[in-house]
Amino acid sequence: MTLLSGIQPTGAIHLGNYLGAVRRWATAHGRDDMFFVVDLHAMTVPHHPGRLRARTREQLAVLLAAGIDPDVACVFVQSDLVDQLGALTWLLESTCTFGEANRMTQFKEKSEGQASVRLSLLTYPVLMAADILLHGADEVPVGEDQTQHLELARTLARRFNNTYGEVFTVPRGVLPQVAARVRDLADPTRKMAKSSGDSPGTIYLLDPPDTVRRKIQRAVTDTVGEVRYDPERQPGVANLLEILAACTGVSPYTAAGTVDSYAALKAAVADAVVETLRPVRERTVELLDDPAELDRVRRAGAERARRRAQPRLDAALEVVGLR
Ligand code: TYM
Repeated sequence: MTLLSGIQPTGAIHLGNYLGAVRRWATAHGRDDMFFVVDLHAMTVPHHPGRLRARTREQLAVLLAAGIDPDVACVFVQSDLVDQLGALTWLLESTCTFGEANRMTQFKEKSEGQASVRLSLLTYPVLMAADILLHGADEVPVGEDQTQHLELARTLARRFNNTYGEVFTVPRGVLPQVAARVRDLADPTRKMAKSSGDSPGTIYLLDPPDTVRRKIQRAVTDTVGEVRYDPERQPGVANLLEILAACTGVSPYTAAGTVDSYAALKAAVADAVVETLRPVRERTVELLDDPAELDRVRRAGAERARRRAQPRLDAALEVVGLR
């Protein structure tokens, strides 16, 4: 059984990434599992080379700080496999239709209103499918926003296998029970997302405790005045309850029963988030001070991932008629 998942170094890791994905990777991982920083994906929007390099290093540190043991699971950086991924992406682009890529809602959202859109933003989900299929992943733990991309990876695996022969495992996306879609604190109609600058509605993993508390204090609620878990009518309060539930290991309904005012809710959420993030933040800062260790992990992970990927890539090249 292989679990596999990745995170983009487009901006700083936030609470949604952590609760929806990274934390779950850290709790259960074995020798066959793979977790990586998807730096190639960060090039689908205008990017700054120095910042990309720094963010990639930072996210590698966060994965380790979150508790993923690189001597157990394989932890690596996507671009260290660029040769193999480039080859497989081409095979999968030749399996995917333009219509399928063009239907992706994330492409529509990110390209809307932009004067110039990189072609890689359109083909990005195919590269993501290559990430997953190259290593024979069985399960892909992700947040809700990746569901459509996961479906595409499944479709491409099946189509490739049916057309040329069984090469790929058909992966399954796995969502968390709570916090599959953490919302923006300042605008709970939107998901919490990475951005280039600081954003009042986003809690970053490396935000100091007083910043975390301030952002939660200012979170948008409503005028209902009652703490109930009702995502339709009270999206802001429901979001805070989901965050509290995810941090304390209870259901959002149970969490709602533990507080009786919005002020008490915010205070409880602030305490829970600060305590949840504290060890990860402290360990990340330590790791960033030890570039040699991060380099060692990166090199060893790349070796391991490349070795593992090659037989499957060879099989795919063979069945399509390139060997
Ligand atoms: P990315 O970097 O946008 O997000 C990393 C993970 O965090 C989850 N996530 C959230 N979960 C809950 N609430 C939120 N507000 C929230 N925002 C993000 C995402 O669902 C994701 O699991 N395309 C992927 C990276 C990727 C990948 C892969 C993932 C590339 N190749 C192969 C799995 C397998 C992405 O952009 O994630």
